[in-house]
Amino acid sequence: MDTKVYYLDRNNPDFDVLKYAGSVIRGGGTVVFPTETVYGLGANALDAKACKKIFEAKGRPQDNPLIVHVCSTSIDDFVEKIPDRAKKLMDRFWPGPLTIIFKKSKLIPDVITAGLDTVGIRMPSNNIARELVRQSGVPIAAPSANLSGRPSPTNVKHVIDDLYGKVDVILGGGNCDVGLESTVVDMTERPAILRPGGITYEQLKELIDDIYIDPAVMKKPDKNFRPKAPGMKYRHYAPKAKMVLIRGGLEDVVGKINELCRENMSKGLKVGILSTEQTYDKYPFGTVLSMGDRKRPETIAANIFDRLRQFDDLGVDLILSEAVEEKNIGLSIMNRMKKAAGYNIINI
Ligand code: TXA
Ligand code: MG
Repeated sequence: MDTKVYYLDRNNPDFDVLKYAGSVIRGGGTVVFPTETVYGLGANALDAKACKKIFEAKGRPQDNPLIVHVCSTSIDDFVEKIPDRAKKLMDRFWPGPLTIIFKKSKLIPDVITAGLDTVGIRMPSNNIARELVRQSGVPIAAPSANLSGRPSPTNVKHVIDDLYGKVDVILGGGNCDVGLESTVVDMTERPAILRPGGITYEQLKELIDDIYIDPAVMKKPDKNFRPKAPGMKYRHYAPKAKMVLIRGGLEDVVGKINELCRENMSKGLKVGILSTEQTYDKYPFGTVLSMGDRKRPETIAANIFDRLRQFDDLGVDLILSEAVEEKNIGLSIMNRMKKAAGYNIINI
C-alpha cells in the first residue's frame, strides 16, 4: 500500500492536509494521527469494513475492542445513556487522556467493541487529533498505532517503523506529551479503572469517591484471566529483548543491576540498563539510557516507550530496569513496565 506521510505543526496545522485526511477517513481509509497520549491508527468508527482494516494493519486480535475518538461532548448518538457521574468526568477531564466506557448504541458496529455491549469513548486534547475528527465528520475508532504487542508509538519514527506501507496516511505531529495511553474507566457499573493511564487514580478519586482499580491491573495474567478490558490480558509493550525490573531501595537497586550486568556481559550478552537522571552516572558497564527524572515522573511516562524501542534498535539481549514508585502517574508507568518485563521482577 502507498502510504502518504505529512508532518504537521501542532500549533498551526495545515488545514488542507487535515481536510484531505478527513476525506480519507470518510472514504473508508486509515489515518495515523498524533494524540496527547500516543499515536492512534484511525478509521471511521461507524464503518465496520473500515475498522476491520485497523485490525489487519496492526495484527490485532479480534477480541480486543477499539476506543472511539470524538471532538465534542455530544456523544448521545453513540451511547445508550450518559450516567451523571460519567458526565462529571467528561466535564472535568475532556478533552484529555481519559476513556470512558458506556453502554453502546446501535450505531456503533460490533467489530469495534469486539461484540461487547459497551463502548469506550474519549475526546483527545491534541489539536490535530480533534481537528481530524471534526474534518472527518464522523467519530474515529483508533487503537495505538503500533504493531500488536510492540511498545506504543510516541513519535512519528515509531509509527513509520511499524506501519509504513500498511495505512493510507500518516500525520506526524511531534512527540506525544503524556507518552502513556489514556486511563480507561468503566462507568456502566461501579466505577472502575480498567487501565491506568494519563489521568491518575488520585485525580479520579477526588471526583468519584468509590472508584476502584480493577484487580486485573495489578495481577500477572494466567490462562483463566478475564479482565474487563480485554486488552489487558495481552503481553503488551514488549521490547524484543528479555527485560527484568529491579525494585527496592535505590542504592541496592543500582548495586544489583551492576552485578547482573557484569554477570550477563561475561556470558557474552549485550546488556541495556534503564536508569533515571539520578542514577545515570552510576552504571559503568552496559548500554545505559535514562528514562527521565525521578522528581518529575511525567518525564519518565513521556520517554518510556521510546527507550524500549531504542533498546530494540540497539539490539540488546537483556534490559535491566529500575522500578518507580507506584503512585500517581507511577502506577501507570509501572503497569506498562511490568508488562514489558513479562512480570519478571526482582524485589530487593
Ligand atoms: O490513549 C489511548 O487510549 C490511545 C490513543 C490512540 O487514544 N488508544 C489506545 O487504544 O491505547 P488501544 O486499543 O491500544 O487500547 C484500548 C484499551 C484496550 O485495553 C481495550 O481492551 C480497552 O481499551 N477497551 C476498549 N473498549 C473497551 C470496552 N468497551 N470495554 C472494556 N475495555 C475496552
Ligand atoms: Mg495499544
